Amino acid sequence: MAEVTPDLRHIPKDRAYAQLHAHLIAVLAGIDDDIAGMATMSALIHHGFRHLWTGFYRVVGPNLLRVGPYQGTLGCLDIAFGRGVCGTAAAERRTVVVPEVDRFPGHIACDARSKSEIVVPVFDAAGALIAVLDIDSDRRSTFDQEDANGLERIMRWFAGEGRG
Ligand code: SME
Repeated sequence: MAEVTPDLRHIPKDRAYAQLHAHLIAVLAGIDDDIAGMATMSALIHHGFRHLWTGFYRVVGPNLLRVGPYQGTLGCLDIAFGRGVCGTAAAERRTVVVPEVDRFPGHIACDARSKSEIVVPVFDAAGALIAVLDIDSDRRSTFDQEDANGLERIMRWFAGEGRG
């Protein structure tokens, strides 16, 4: 496919996420497959914003996350609920924004270049937690409430919003 991933870095975040959301819904039209959704979202979010690491950790046990589709350098394989930023977001079922990873107790450093991070929980249509989306940046304070809002909206695809 010759399509170039649109560069979203230089437009206001609300517009960037609206554009990204529309793009993802269009690309995923007719696809009813969580892994295909995770892979496609990882690619478009990652390259759209030129993040350091973008991907999913899937819930594979009562208290265990395991790496899923991602873009970036080698990620940790397993993360227990309650550990690191991902495990905290999973245990508390809420988005966690970390402006400076060095100040987050228990942060798991998969890549020493990571400076800030956001983790967004992913729920299915029944409200069960199925994964978390983890994004790392090589700059401090990259993520804020606008990122949380935009990414939470995109993650609602896994609950059936805009899907089918
Ligand atoms: N930093 C994450 C671990 C996953 S990687 O960064 C890809 C955390 O603290 O949960």
